[in-house]
Amino acid sequence: MNIAVVGSQWGDEGKGKLIDILSMEKDITVRYQGGNNAGHTVCVGDKEYVFHLLPSAILHKNKVCVIGNGVVVDPMILIREIQNLKAKGINVTEKKLKLSGLCHVIMPYHRILDGLREQKRKNKIGTTGRGIGPCYADKVARCGIRMIDLLNPRVLKDKLEDNLREKNEIFRKVYDAKGYGLKKTYEEYLEYGKILKPFICNTVIYINDQIDKGKSVLFEGAQGTFLDIDFGTYPFVTSSNSIVGGICSGTGVAPTRINKSIACVKAYTTRVGEGPFPTEFSSVLMDQIRKKGNEFGATTGRPRRCGWFDSVLVRYSVIINGISELAIMKLDVLDELEEIQICTGYKYKGKVYKEFPMDFEKLCGVKPVYEAVPGWNSSTYGLKKYADLPKNAKSYITRLEKLLKVGVKYISTGPKRDEIIVR
Ligand code: GDP
Ligand code: IMO
Ligand code: MG
Repeated sequence: MNIAVVGSQWGDEGKGKLIDILSMEKDITVRYQGGNNAGHTVCVGDKEYVFHLLPSAILHKNKVCVIGNGVVVDPMILIREIQNLKAKGINVTEKKLKLSGLCHVIMPYHRILDGLREQKRKNKIGTTGRGIGPCYADKVARCGIRMIDLLNPRVLKDKLEDNLREKNEIFRKVYDAKGYGLKKTYEEYLEYGKILKPFICNTVIYINDQIDKGKSVLFEGAQGTFLDIDFGTYPFVTSSNSIVGGICSGTGVAPTRINKSIACVKAYTTRVGEGPFPTEFSSVLMDQIRKKGNEFGATTGRPRRCGWFDSVLVRYSVIINGISELAIMKLDVLDELEEIQICTGYKYKGKVYKEFPMDFEKLCGVKPVYEAVPGWNSSTYGLKKYADLPKNAKSYITRLEKLLKVGVKYISTGPKRDEIIVR
């Protein structure tokens, strides 16, 4: 059975933890979009790992991890991640990691452009500054450089020359910034190519062959449905399709081979960066939940904005991703609340809507309609059995199931691998 795990909100739902657990029963775990804007945390014992490009199954022995063609790769970051693991005694060999030759490469000018574009915008997105947007833009503009190009000095030089001619003009004339010399970047990226060569292969053939042989695959989503380039809160989104639909174009695996989709859902809501957030807390609760949930970005360290659970949002995710199971994460973070609010609709100009609006102005103007439910006021931290959950925590879960029209299979009660309830 090949399964997909996607974020159902604005990212950081706890995908890393869930994927670490679910990948134990799968042969291969595949990233299909995004880049090192992602920060996926895996906690094992008292050790914490944050993965930006490596799939979150990388800690398991004898499991294969694949970085599919839809991912944009900053080679320096990938090499650093591999080296960091090596220093901790985990050897990432070419047997363990496969990297698509078709992945687009994040170049230094992408990182710089990301920052310059943000500076110039009136309505800043609050990107991670990792060059993700400019790299995807070049991919679509057909001037991108792919992993396979790093293995061919002539092609790399040709493409780099073409790019620098244009980018340097943009830097100088639009941003009044310094241009780039060819030599340093060319040599640096050729070197990255040499280091990463053993991992580069045709991952389309690899994954499909393995499925033919009866192996099972887990597809690891990055970001979340509302950061998706098409369905998210555009323009405050990332530049890829983070939804289940992104798997096919991001890996070369056909939709008929994806058997099940699981939504990773935070028991409340968070968002990093700018953009509309209807259920966002005011300051007192914001501080309380941010502290309790340790809501600081795993990639940039920025404080995450926090808010109540928004069922309008997550119900839309369920539809878009064809979700048949929910994993509710970070339930323990709500332990101390007397009362919990669940957003069940949006009010706009006197009318209540149950559907996520397409109109950006409307989305910015909606007032959430809340249903109050009693808190459980006791610790669920580390619980492993559903029966041990307080009554009101069970009622909260049941209410979410009803609103989202999907059953909850996993309930996470702490950051560590074994702090989970499987129903
Ligand atoms: P991802 O991007 O979806 O993988 O999520 P992040 O790793 O960016 O953020 C999730 C954070 O919550 C990490 O620090 C996890 O260690 C932590 N976490 C995951 N599940 C739980 C949980 O059930 N309870 C608590 N308290 N923390 C959790
Ligand atoms: P994971 O996989 C949360 C947000 C950024 C910004 C917007 C665009 O850990 O859930 P980008 O650098 O992608 O152009 O930034 O998207 N963002 C994330 N927020 N979790 C992530 O990944 C994110 N990746 C990007 O904060 O608002
Ligand atoms: Mg994250």
